[in-house]
Formats: sequence, structure tokens, C-alpha cells
Amino acid sequence: CSCLFTTYTLTSLLSHLALSPPPGYMEERLSLYTKLKEEHDALMAERAEKDSKSIKVTLPDGKVVEAESWKTTPYQVAAGISQGLADATVIAKVNSSVWDLDRPLEENCSLQLLKFDDDEAKAVYWHSSAHIMGEAMERVYGGCLCYGPPIENGFYYDMFLDQEGVSSNDFPCLENLCKKIIKEKQPFERLEIKKETLLEMFKYNKFKCRILNEKVTTPTTTVYRCGPLIDLCRGPHVRHTGKIKALKIHKNSSTYWEGKADMETLQRIYGISFPDPKMLKEWERFQEEAKNRDHRKLGREQDLFFFHDLSPGSCFFLPKGSYIYNSLVDFIRSEYRKRGFQEVVTPNIYNSKLWQTSGHWQHYSDNMFSFEVEKEVFALKPMNCPGHCLMFDHRPRSWRELPLRMADFGVLHRNELSGALTGLTRVRRFQQDDAHIFCTMDQIEEEIKGCLDFLRTVYDCFGFSFKLNLSTRPEKFLGEPAVWDQAEKQLENSLNEFGEKWVLNPGDGAFYGPKIDIQIKDAIGRYHQCATIQLDFQLPIRFNLTFQRPVIIHRAILGSVERMIAILTENYGGKWPLWLSPRQVMVVPVGPTLDDYAQKIRDDFHRGGLMTDVDCDASCTLNKKIRNAQLAQYNFILVVGEKEKTSETVNVRTRDNKVHGERSVNECMERLKQLKASRSRNAEEEF
Ligand SMILES: *[C@@H]1O[C@H](CO)[C@@H](O)[C@H](O)[C@H]1NC(C)=O
Ligand SMILES: *[C@@H]1O[C@H](CO)[C@@H](O)[C@H](O)[C@H]1NC(C)=O
Ligand SMILES: *[C@@H]1O[C@H](CO)[C@@H](O)[C@H](O)[C@H]1NC(C)=O
Ligand SMILES: *[C@@H]1O[C@H](CO)[C@@H](O)[C@H](O)[C@H]1NC(C)=O
Ligand SMILES: *[C@@H]1O[C@H](CO)[C@@H](O)[C@H](O)[C@H]1NC(C)=O
Repeated sequence: CSCLFTTYTLTSLLSHLALSPPPGYMEERLSLYTKLKEEHDALMAERAEKDSKSIKVTLPDGKVVEAESWKTTPYQVAAGISQGLADATVIAKVNSSVWDLDRPLEENCSLQLLKFDDDEAKAVYWHSSAHIMGEAMERVYGGCLCYGPPIENGFYYDMFLDQEGVSSNDFPCLENLCKKIIKEKQPFERLEIKKETLLEMFKYNKFKCRILNEKVTTPTTTVYRCGPLIDLCRGPHVRHTGKIKALKIHKNSSTYWEGKADMETLQRIYGISFPDPKMLKEWERFQEEAKNRDHRKLGREQDLFFFHDLSPGSCFFLPKGSYIYNSLVDFIRSEYRKRGFQEVVTPNIYNSKLWQTSGHWQHYSDNMFSFEVEKEVFALKPMNCPGHCLMFDHRPRSWRELPLRMADFGVLHRNELSGALTGLTRVRRFQQDDAHIFCTMDQIEEEIKGCLDFLRTVYDCFGFSFKLNLSTRPEKFLGEPAVWDQAEKQLENSLNEFGEKWVLNPGDGAFYGPKIDIQIKDAIGRYHQCATIQLDFQLPIRFNLTFQRPVIIHRAILGSVERMIAILTENYGGKWPLWLSPRQVMVVPVGPTLDDYAQKIRDDFHRGGLMTDVDCDASCTLNKKIRNAQLAQYNFILVVGEKEKTSETVNVRTRDNKVHGERSVNECMERLKQLKASRSRNAEEEF
């Protein structure tokens, strides 16, 4: 579909853009489906006739509704309460599973009616939208659909195409076709079918056959139909395509089948959808805002860092970017000193054999090391902990040495797939503010409190609020349940004493110990996971740390320095707070006769540890120079004329054009040094 769509009316466009005739597999698939669906409907009618019993449906408020099994649907229950509720409901939840609104209830059950604001409902809504887009993709490209899942923000569908790829020029055609599908209110029908029959139905699509052969372990599974699309899918879905009120296709990429580089190349198309066009508008505004703050864009504009094809995923930090990098590391170092952490330097696990320690570990994949316990494989990514364990074990340790807090900014390498690399958020070379605390079981509570306090100090300084989860013992775990219980109790005590709100997230701990998950919220409301605080009972055993077998606490606050710089760049939108800013002061002489005085002030401030530049460009007017400095986000602009030179003063203004007026050179420098040392979040106002 390379559509010259301006030359067509919408109707002729719609008939023009789809393949004509439609791909051959469509009709065959549909005729097999229709036959099976008729049989199924007859069976269901018989069941409703013969097996229907009176059942009780319990609503979340405890109210019990009488219903009939194999007849009453969740939609009918909702409509019985109010039509408004039935219309606003995206999906039902029967007991603890999501359930199609039009699928009859089978037994006594509890029933929830989920709206779009619920995360599970959103996932269903976007999954259904993926089917709509898949239907359009089949009609436009005629290729083989692969996976089409919901994601954190919207959905995508992968398609295998024999020849050409997808072009973003196709998006308007696809969107128009989606609109047509939505307008038709095609019902989503669910049908359970035997695996052999499905292999016949999907014989044209080797990917769906792979899923059937490799993933489906039951004798039957379900397909869903909307319009001509019949898709292998567990469901559930919204009632009909008309429930999608606004849909946008916004991105394409290429990928591999199941992410494996030796498998087929697939085309991926991304979309987003909402139950209200206003929400789509809001989403588009947000995307625009995020685009303006994109750290790759600001990194270029502010001359902070860049990437080069010669070393994908490993960033080049220019002087101004390095200033930010080092300031962050210095900040953490100063906190380490206050908090009794000792810094060490360890070998890189990636090009050492550290992962082989005590013979337990194996090379698992490019990025993972693993060990096997009773046929279960537990895998970990490269990190600093093995080095720290060896250091701990280097000589006998007495209990008096615990807690031992070891910190490390060691460089880590992970051979991420080139398709997964995105700016500074996913890189191959990075440093973490990684530390491990070796302590006794009894010291856990106190140490965790210390970690939480550390975290609050750092995030308060950045101006991030944060959310906390306590993630406890998962189904697959190693170690003694009693030890887990004791440790979880201590984490809980630490969290309670910390005084911030936290949420229990049962079963989400790591296999080696419980953990506290932390998410920070940035200036435009996005959440990021950076810090981690995890207990580890296993590593001390794996590394045979003896004498006094300690517990290890893994903790990081920034996470990786690289990723934190991405988040901070976008959070501040390029307006760095004074202490992190690589452009703290710009000295602006009003004319060439003052260049010497301006230069001297620059040198003094620079020696005073402030990142200072001077603008002696004679071809620029004074106003233009001030404006340029403000656009470059210099926190402070010091204008100097004859008057200032005579009285050894500067005239102070900020990047937001707040005028603080004339100050003595010394007073100004001392004040800026103070504001920098205290890591003021708003030095321009506080000055
Ligand atoms: C439903 O629950 C009621 C009790 O609340 C019970 O008497 C009845 O047998 C149950 N019905 C079915 C079909 O399980
Ligand atoms: C739902 O839970 C009830 C009560 O625990 C149970 O009797 C019933 O079988 C469950 N229904 C379904 C559909 O799983
Ligand atoms: C997506 O579409 C663009 C524009 O047509 C095309 O140049 C690009 O190759 C596609 N992207 C990928 C990653 O396939
Ligand atoms: C806490 O757990 C919930 C449920 O799994 C999850 O949605 C949320 O993102 C988690 N929050 C944090 C801070 O990790
Ligand atoms: C663990 O350390 C102890 C004490 O040093 C030693 O006796 C034992 O052989 C070690 N076990 C393994 C598996 O290395």
C-alpha cells in the first residue's frame, strides 16, 4: 500500500488500499471456522437447554445476583445494574480470571466489572486493538501474523512479509482501514478448537503452527474471530471492535521471531488506542512533550554525549556530559563516606572468569550466567557481586567486621542485542553505584533502614518522589522458608520505621531473597525503576563464604549512572540544577573594552570550582549574548560594564531572566559555591 491517498476519495481509497483479491488463506480459514462455530453454537444451545442451573454471582460489594449457568453473561449482569455500567465495562473478571463479557457464566462465582482505568482491562483493550490492526495488516500486506500483544503503552503486531518491509507511509491507510473495522462493530467471537484442526486452519502460517506445536500443551485451545480475521489467541477481548473509540498507528520497526537473531526477520507495527478521543489527544500531547525532552536530542543540543556506529551501545561523554557524570559519582561517593561504605575496584566479570567461582556457575547466554539446582536454571546478569564475594573471602573474617559495606563503580559490559539499544537507557557499557553489604541476619533491619535513608537523601536532592514495594518469597525459591520469613519481617519493620507508604507485592521476590522495589516519578509523571535493595541468602552459599556466613544486601541508588543521566536529562528538560549543571556561569562583557575584566572573572570563578564561560564575541549585541546564554541554560549570567569594573562587581541575572542586580565579585562567588555545595534544587531563586 504505497497510497497516493490525496488523489482518492475516502471510499475509493478504502477499496483501493486492501489487496484485491484478498489473500487466499482468508476464505479457507473462514469456511473451516464457520462450520466449527455452527457446531459449537448448537452444542451451547443444547447445554443451555439441558444443563442450566441457578447460580449465585457475588459482586465486589458483597451483593449476590441470581443467574443461570450457560445462559447468563457478565454483560447481562452489568446491564441489570445499569446500562451505563455495561457500556463502560471493558472486561469481566470471574473469580480471578478475566472473562469475555458475552461468555456465559458456568458456575457459582465472584464477578468484577473492569473499566479502562484498570490495568488488566487496559491490557485486554489494547490486545483487542492489536487484533483490529492485525486484521488491517492482513488485508493490506497479506503476510503472516505472528505475535500481537498489549504492551505498557498500547500494542504491537509482528508480521512476516516475503518481500518488502513496512513503511510509515502506510500508516494512514492502515488507520483508515482500522476505522472502517471499528465502524462495523465486528463482534469478537471465542471458539475452542482441537489442536489438530488448528494446525489445519493455520497451515498457511508456519509461525502460528510453531506456537501450536511448541507452546500449546493442551488438547484444545481458543481462537478469536473479528471480521475476516481468525487468530490463535487465549483472549479475552472486548465485546466488539466498536468499543475502540480512538486508534493511532505510530511506529514501525523490524525484529526477529521470538527475538532470536538467527530466526526470520519480522516487521513490527505499534499502535495505541483509547475509549475516548480526548485521551488520545492527551497521549499525543504527552508524546510531544517527551520528544522535546528526549535525552538523545538534548544530549546533542547541549553537547553532552553522543553515540557512534563504531561502538554501538557505548556512549561518548563529551566534557560537559562528563561533568554531569562525575558530579553524580562524586555525590554518591560523599554519601558513601558519611555512611561507612568503602570503595573497591574489581575486575570486570565479562572478561574475567569470575563467574566460574566455586564451579557452580555456567555461561548461560551472551548476557547471563547461571547455575542449576534440581533441574531448575537460575540465571543472573553480569555484575559486581562475584568480585565482592571473592574480596570478602580473601582472608578469614571475624564477626566484628560485619556489617562490611563494599562499594564499586566498576565498568560493566552486557552484550545487548543491537535492536534493544536505546540511547542511554539500554547500553552495553555502563557503571553502577553498586554496593554490597555483608551482614548477619540480626543486622538486616538496621542496614535496610540505612539503605532507605540513603535513597531518600539522593532522590530528595533530585526532586523525585518515589513508590516502594516489598516483594516476598516467589514460588521458585532457594533456601529455608523460615529464614525467608525472618528476613521479610525485618524488611517490613525497616519499611514501617522509614515512614513512607509501601505496598506488599507477594511472590515477586528474587529466587535468592526478598527485596524492596523502588520506582521514581519524573517531572512529567513517568515512573522509572533505578534503585534496588535486595537480600541474598544464596550468593554466600554459592561462594562458600564461611567462618561467619553472612547475608548479602545488594543495593544501588542511581542504578546505572548512564541510565540515571538519561532520566535526569529528561526530568529537567535540559535545565540542570546548579550543582549538576555543566554551564553554571556565563560572564558577558558589555563591550570589547571589558573583555579583560570579564576574562579575569571567568578565571577566578573557574578556579573557585564553578563551570564558567565567557562570551567575548564582539559581533553580538549585549542582549543577544544574554539571550544565547539563557537558551544554552547557563544558570547564572554575570554582565560586566565600566561601572562593575570600577567597583569590582558583577550584575547577576538567571537563565529565567530573574535579575538579582549588582554584587561584589567575592560575595557572588561565595554564594554560588555555597548553593552548589548544598546541591540546591533552585539556586536561581535562592541566590
Ligand atoms: C452455588 O452455591 C450455593 C450456596 O451458595 C450452593 O447451594 C449451590 O449448590 C452452588 N451451585 C453450584 C452449581 O455449584
Ligand atoms: C469460582 O469460585 C467458586 C467459589 O470459590 C467456585 O465454587 C467456582 O467453581 C469458581 N468458578 C469458576 C468459574 O472458576
Ligand atoms: C519503518 O518505516 C520507515 C519509513 O518508511 C523505514 O524507513 C524504516 O526502515 C522502517 N523501520 C524499520 C526499523 O524497519
Ligand atoms: C508494585 O507491585 C505492583 C503489582 O505487581 C506493580 O504494579 C507496581 O509497579 C510495583 N511498584 C513498584 C514500586 O515496583
Ligand atoms: C567451603 O569452605 C570450607 C571451609 O573453608 C571447605 O572445607 C569446603 O571444602 C568448601 N566447600 C566447597 C564446595 O568448596
